[in-house]
Amino acid sequence: MENLVVLSGAGVSAESGISTFRDSGGLWEQYRIEEVATPEAWEANFELVLDFYNMRRKNVLEVQPNQAHYEIAELEKEYNVHVITQNIDDLHERAGSKNVLHLHGEILLAKSSNPATLHVNEDYYPVDKGLIEKGDTCSNGFQLRPHVVWFGEPVPNLSIAEEIVGKADILLVIGTSLNVYPAANLLYFSKPSCKIYLIDPNQVNVSHDLDVKIIREKATDGMKTFRNLLK
Ligand SMILES: NC(=O)c1ccc[n+]([C@@H]2O[C@H](COP(=O)([O-])OP(=O)(O)OC[C@H]3O[C@@H](n4cnc5c(N)ncnc54)[C@H](O)[C@@H]3O)[C@@H](O)[C@H]2O)c1
Repeated sequence: MENLVVLSGAGVSAESGISTFRDSGGLWEQYRIEEVATPEAWEANFELVLDFYNMRRKNVLEVQPNQAHYEIAELEKEYNVHVITQNIDDLHERAGSKNVLHLHGEILLAKSSNPATLHVNEDYYPVDKGLIEKGDTCSNGFQLRPHVVWFGEPVPNLSIAEEIVGKADILLVIGTSLNVYPAANLLYFSKPSCKIYLIDPNQVNVSHDLDVKIIREKATDGMKTFRNLLK
C-alpha cells in the first residue's frame, strides 16, 4: 500500500460549522491572538483564555464531521494513511480516521499549567464537563489549561510529523493557509517523488520549488476531485 499523508487545517472543518482563523468572520476578527492564544495572555488573564476555549469547545461538541472528513477516513481502505492536523477539534477521529497526529493540541483535553511539567512530560485530562473553570487543578494543585499549542510555544509532535511526511508517496494538503509555522514547513520534508495535491477554495502561497497540483475547491467537493485524480 502506498503511504498517503493528509496535512489538514481549519478549512477542512469549516463546512462542519467551525470558524477558520483567517476567513472573513474568522476567529481573529472577534479576538486578538495576543489576548487569548499566547502564554503571555494566560499570565495576563487566564480566565479570558479559559472562556475563549470553553466557547470553542462548546462549538466543537455541537458539530459533526463533514463529507471531507469521511472521505479522508475512507482512503484507509486503499492507502496507508496518516493525518497530520493543525486542528484542535476531533472531527477526523469522529469520522473514523485511525492515525491522527495533532500538531497544535486537542481542545477536548486539559493539561497542567505547572511550569515544571509544561512541554516536558505533560499529563492530559479529559474535559468531562465541557468546561475548564477557575479552580480546576492538576494533582499538584496547578490551574488546568487547555491542551492547545499557543503561539510562541514549542510543537512537541513536529519531528514525528516531519518523519511521516518524509515517507509519503502522496501528500494531500487541505484547508490550511500555510501561514502558521513551523507546520507550514512540513511540505518541504516530502521526498522528490512524492505527489503533492492542495485543496483550498482560495489562493494559498506555495513555493514554486514544489510541484503542487492545486484543486481550487471547498474540502467536500475537492475530496471528490482528488479521489478521481487518484483513480
Ligand atoms: N478546527 C480547528 O481546530 C481550528 C479552527 C481555527 C483555527 N485553528 C488553528 O488555527 C491555525 C490556523 O491555521 P490554518 O491554516 O489551519 O487556518 P487558517 O484560518 O489560517 O486557513 C484556513 C484555510 O482554509 C481555507 N478554507 C476555508 N473554507 C474552506 C473549505 N470549505 N474547504 C477547504 N478549505 C477552506 C481558507 O481559504 C484558508 O486557506 C491552526 O494552526 C489551528 O491550530 C484550528
